[in-house]
Amino acid sequence: MTSPEDRALIERSLEIAAEHGGDLTAAVYARLFRERPELEAMFVMDTDGAVRGEMLSRVFAAILDFIGDRAYAQNWISAEATTHEGYLVPREDFVRFFQTVSEAVRDACGEQWTPEMGRAWISLLSGIRAYVV
Ligand code: HEM
Repeated sequence: MTSPEDRALIERSLEIAAEHGGDLTAAVYARLFRERPELEAMFVMDTDGAVRGEMLSRVFAAILDFIGDRAYAQNWISAEATTHEGYLVPREDFVRFFQTVSEAVRDACGEQWTPEMGRAWISLLSGIRAYVV
């Protein structure tokens, strides 16, 4: 489980990012497609961005559950990794999305990002990875 300290650090980073950056959707997908341009073609049908928005908001909800009660997140993430294989998204790309999110959060936090937040996120990412690969 996520420690209370890590949970507080991750929640704080998300709050700061929201205060500074508002909606992180554009930042997350810009970063994803900069790093993996070939993935952009997967969203050609998503002309209004609704799928990308929904996907990211479900990812944030899953992160909050994963660092909290873990009522569903680990099973859901694991199931989505399998569903995404059906979309031809490799598990490494799937899990990497959480890292892309963390990098967008870090950038949005700017000066208020701390090394402790970075460590808490690394620990979270490795916890999630265990349910994907
Ligand atoms: C680079 C990584 C990823 C790629 C390329 C990707 C790609 C896609 C694509 C193409 C769709 C649309 C599928 C369709 O309707 O035909 C989709 C939907 C979705 N993805 Fe991902 N995905 C990624 C990571 C994730 C992750 C990490 C999660 C959650 C753990 C997730 C959750 C979802 C959900 C919930 C939907 C449905 C959204 C809706 O209701 O419209 N995806 N994804």
